[in-house]
Amino acid sequence: MYNQKVLDAFANPQNVGVIENADGEGTVGNATCGDIMKITLKIENDKIVDAKFQTFGCAAAIATSSTATQMIIGMTVDEALQVTNAKVVEYLEGLPPQKIHCSVLAEEAIKKAIEDYRAKQQNKSVDKTSIEYV
Ligand code: FES
Repeated sequence: MYNQKVLDAFANPQNVGVIENADGEGTVGNATCGDIMKITLKIENDKIVDAKFQTFGCAAAIATSSTATQMIIGMTVDEALQVTNAKVVEYLEGLPPQKIHCSVLAEEAIKKAIEDYRAKQQNKSVDKTSIEYV
């Protein structure tokens, strides 16, 4: 059912795990099947320097998570926001139609982790402002 590229990504997933003290963290669930994915990001000067994932899901979810983390390392956060599930599937040279929904987890988890990063950045600047006022 899967092509060789997907099977290889599933058999040898990259960037599995959790980054301690991550700058951004996103956990999402797949409404279709109930599977869950967590992505943690290390970000320096708006550039993603590390990304790790944990997926409780199927082979397609693991293959797409691994691929998505590989794609976004080295990107700016704005560039990473342009990484869609369609781009990840294209990189993997296709998924069976009934497995396309699995690839959405990685895109959504990345977006959520970047939202979390941006919220933390805002809080930091708010904290800094309040310190300056004291
Ligand atoms: Fe749930 Fe693939 S079946 S993510």
